[in-house]
Amino acid sequence: MIHLRCNDVKYADYIGKEVTVRGWVHRLRKQKENTFMLIRDDRGGVIQCVLATEKALTLTIESCLEVTGKLQQDSRAPEGGYEIRATDLKIYGVAKVDYPIGEYQSEDLLLDNRHLAVRTRRMSTIAKIRASILKYARQWFIENNWLEVNVPVIVKDAVEGGSTLFKVRYFDDDAYLSQSAQLYLEAMVFSLGPVWSVTESFRAEKSRTVRHLAEFTHMEAEAPWIILDDLLRIQEQLISHIVQNTVNENSADLGYLKRDLSDLKSIEPPFDKLSYEKVIEILRSKDFVIIEDNGNERKIEWGDDLNVDSERELTRNRSRPIFVVDFPISLKPFYVKEDHEKEGIGLSADMLAPRGFGEISSGGERENDITSITKRIEKESLDPKAYDWYLDLRRYGSVPHAGFGMGIERLVRWIANLQDIKDTVLFPRTMSRVRP
Ligand code: 4AD
Ligand code: MG
Repeated sequence: MIHLRCNDVKYADYIGKEVTVRGWVHRLRKQKENTFMLIRDDRGGVIQCVLATEKALTLTIESCLEVTGKLQQDSRAPEGGYEIRATDLKIYGVAKVDYPIGEYQSEDLLLDNRHLAVRTRRMSTIAKIRASILKYARQWFIENNWLEVNVPVIVKDAVEGGSTLFKVRYFDDDAYLSQSAQLYLEAMVFSLGPVWSVTESFRAEKSRTVRHLAEFTHMEAEAPWIILDDLLRIQEQLISHIVQNTVNENSADLGYLKRDLSDLKSIEPPFDKLSYEKVIEILRSKDFVIIEDNGNERKIEWGDDLNVDSERELTRNRSRPIFVVDFPISLKPFYVKEDHEKEGIGLSADMLAPRGFGEISSGGERENDITSITKRIEKESLDPKAYDWYLDLRRYGSVPHAGFGMGIERLVRWIANLQDIKDTVLFPRTMSRVRP
């Protein structure tokens, strides 16, 4: 008996042969004599099966079954013109008739029933693209001799400011959910050299945006003796490797999501580098305004941070990512090293994805002088005592080093061309959603 997994086989090789497909009833049309079902297998592939209606009376949408029969070519069959003329049927589970997921449903209903909505073609297509992105990221790190490490997510210290920390009760004490693995990766470069990790990061983001989640998958890397230029080259290569291989492996999936592949195929190093100063100049020349907390509008000026709208404006007409460098250090966290040739400017870079998608990574050289970094911690109103272990890294054999963090969901959102970041994860966590 030949077990079909729809997307892994060439149907033409099996015409006239007896095959079996296991899966779920995706679409169902009962006629007097025959019942036409679209069966979805366990990788989201579908094939039409035709069955005598008298054998199909109990079947409902999402019933789980195994169909055996002859594979035939029929141009009327959906999804490629092949169908199985069923002779045998084994039913594993008849679904209740009130399956809540249909074709046209509100976003809220789909999110409330995400445990079922993950079965839709769209969600499994995205999940496969996401898996490729992670696979090729890991492949790049392995091929380039970076060591994968794992770090804790229950921590005591803020990395990206105190306002987005999730507090958790930790026995008789308080702790936080990690915002970034960075401090731990920094600790590892002393004995493991270039290291990287994929860790869940948490941000209590109070805003509802299409690019923020409360929990996201963070791919981070850190290496000793590298400078900002090296870090940009590493990211260009990594991104190009991920994109080219994913396009290659998932062209049908990306096509299903109506992703324009020619844009992606053009992604290769080097990416343009724009200074923050230049970026502000460009935005001012377009009369770009920012809205202040009190609701007032004014033209963007030097010293303002970039936001979703300014990043969209900067990347709208580009087909490749760009790096924004030379940010004022006042806009960046305590660990960013100051450029000693340009006072007040940090040695950091944000990578912005093209076509308006905006920031996908942040990274840079780390301040490795104990006095400077202690001052910076105090300036951010953080308690240097809380960072004692981290400051030891500057006390005992401090080394110049650099690293970056990239949000996997931001990467998926761009590569798969999705509007809402919630679609890039199977079970999104946002301000208003923590189940299912
Ligand atoms: O820019 P961020 O905050 O930088 C850091 O956390 C550094 N400590 C990383 C490092 O150097 N090791 O976050 C890095 C990336 C962002 O560029 C973005 O892609 C993603 O993480 N990110 C989020 N993704 C989804 N939802 C959120 N709320 C995110 N916050 C950050
Ligand atoms: Mg950032």
